[in-house]
Amino acid sequence: MDKQVPTFKATAEIEANEAIGPYRGWVRYHGNWRDGPFSHVVFDWSRGQMLERVKRPGTAASVRIVRQLLAHVGELHRRGYLHLDLKPGNVMIDQKARPRSVILVDLGEARRVDAGVLEGSSGTAEYRAPEQRGGHALAPSADVFATAGILVYLLTGEHPNPRAHKLSQSELEARYRERPALARIENRGLRRVLRKALDPDPARRYQSAAAFRRALRPYVDP
Ligand SMILES: Nc1ncnc2c1ncn2[C@@H]1O[C@H](COP(=O)(O)OP(=O)(O)O)[C@@H](O)[C@H]1O
Ligand SMILES: [Mg+2]
Repeated sequence: MDKQVPTFKATAEIEANEAIGPYRGWVRYHGNWRDGPFSHVVFDWSRGQMLERVKRPGTAASVRIVRQLLAHVGELHRRGYLHLDLKPGNVMIDQKARPRSVILVDLGEARRVDAGVLEGSSGTAEYRAPEQRGGHALAPSADVFATAGILVYLLTGEHPNPRAHKLSQSELEARYRERPALARIENRGLRRVLRKALDPDPARRYQSAAAFRRALRPYVDP
């Protein structure tokens, strides 16, 4: 394959995929090439379905899925990248595989951990951390926030911050502070863990995927 860097929007995504290398926690990237007007980027095909299609699998299964996801997110961070668009539409799950496999897709918003202050915004309004609206340096705690939102989705069947893109700045800030989605979490201990992971102040969250993963450990048994 005669490899050329294509001139379309996936360039940063390709750079990220080339930098992180293969790992069982994300789809394997094989390369890219241009053919006349067409740009091709080749990944392994993931069997399974988007996590978005999995509705309320129960507390223990939800926690197990998210702990597996956090192991992958932690590995991504170790390899120097933040995902920054973690949401149920960017996670694939193969429930038939033994053991069940959860994998990340879509590095379209990924940035190096040391990329400095974010100009503009990144991520998806319903899931992103407040500091992803721009003007802040980002840390693994931004991915902790979004992953906590995925757990809220699995537990409740609803996005953690519905219609966020329609809210004014002050409405959005109140929403981040009050975290109304937590009221729908029945398990008290889990609610406390999620309150911390969804803190609007990144310094008050779990500082790593591993720390959040450890805090979820008590809830893996039904
Ligand atoms: N390697 C893959 N194998 C199977 N399905 C995939 C793969 N990559 C992406 N998808 C599916 O395509 C959808 C869109 O891909 P994604 O990389 O998330 O692009 P976008 O930037 O448009 O969100 C994903 O939500 C997922 O359902
Ligand atoms: Mg996507």
